[in-house]
This record gives sequence, structure tokens and C-alpha cells, in this order.
Amino acid sequence: MLTVAVLISGAGSNLRALLEAAAAADFPARVIVVGADREADGLAHAEAFGIPSFVVPWPGAAEREAWGAELASQLEVWNPDLVVLSGLMRLLPGAVVERWSPRMINTHPAYLPEFPGAHAVRDAMVAGVAETGASVIVVDDGVDTGPILAQERVAVLPGDDEHALHERIKPVERRLLIDVVRRIAVGDLDLAASVL
Ligand code: GAR
Repeated sequence: MLTVAVLISGAGSNLRALLEAAAAADFPARVIVVGADREADGLAHAEAFGIPSFVVPWPGAAEREAWGAELASQLEVWNPDLVVLSGLMRLLPGAVVERWSPRMINTHPAYLPEFPGAHAVRDAMVAGVAETGASVIVVDDGVDTGPILAQERVAVLPGDDEHALHERIKPVERRLLIDVVRRIAVGDLDLAASVL
């Protein structure tokens, strides 16, 4: 059974979907802890599923290294097989990425390498593209530059605003994330090979 830690910053709707999938007896992974950089709304999903959680409050960019060290030591307590960044809106220090690489993955609401960064959906709208997408990647020391594990296109529809488009992307992200976690757990997807 693959053990998973999930890190969030916001509503945690993708976390919720993973918790629901992992509650099935035949799903080969279990979420063992949820962490956040603030008192995120999504922590309520962890509580609802009886999963422990922790918060390491973001202290500002000047203290990124110390924050990352504290986050890393919290993760060490649980020692998960896999760390999933599911809407964690902070850049992790290189040392934390290095510690978990390649066993740290990230979901992103764009078809990478298009539209990396914190405003992917807005950036796609502003660019006026006909389609954007969703991706699941291995975290590396860049901003959304790691090896792509799964991705899928999502059309931008007439009348879309940022919220409507993001709400259509998220179900795709969830499906990709759940499938990637399952494939890692059963050995269909070899993270070490993906970073070679
Ligand atoms: C998701 O779309 C996730 O991909 C995105 O934040 C959203 C979190 O939603 N992450 C990024 O943009 C990271 N660059 P949720 O909190 O409802 O799961």
C-alpha cells in the first residue's frame, strides 16, 4: 500500500477527490497526512476523513528556507512513500525538493509547459488560446518544469471566465491525479525512470 502525504493551500477539492478514491478498499494508496501553509479550507476534508493534518504557516519569502525545513521535518514524521502537491501555492526550497525527488508530484491547471506558475488559468484566458489543459508532473527545482506524467487538453469555451474554466479543468486534474497515484502504487509508473 502506497502511503501519500498531500500538501494544500486552498479549498482542497482535488485533495477531496483523492481522499474519496483512496477510501475504496481496492485503491492501492492511502492518504496518511495532509499539510498546509495556512489554515486552508481544505483541511476540513482531512478532518472529515479522519486523516491527521498539520499547518506550517507561510512566514514570507525572506524565511522560505526555514519554512521549508519545518515542513520537511513534519513530512519526515510521517515518512510517506509519495508527496502530492495539490494546490500548494508556494515554491518549496530546493533542499526539500531534493529530499523527496522523484517522489514528489504536482497537479497543475494547464497543459505544461504552457502557462506555468501561480496564475495558469488566468494566463490562458489572457493569451486567448482555444484550449488549455491539466497536467501532473514530477516536482523539480524549477517552476512547473518537471517531467510530465500525465496531461490532457481542456477547451476554452465562448463565455468562459477564469472561474468557469478552472472549474472545468479541475475534474480533469482529479482524474489524472488519481490515475497517476494508482499507477505509481501498482508499479505501472516508475518515477525514477521518469526523471532520467
Ligand atoms: C488546482 O487547480 C491546482 O492545480 C492549482 O490550484 C488548484 C487547487 O484547487 N495549483 C496550481 O495552480 C499550482 N501552480 P483545490 O484547492 O480546490 O484542489
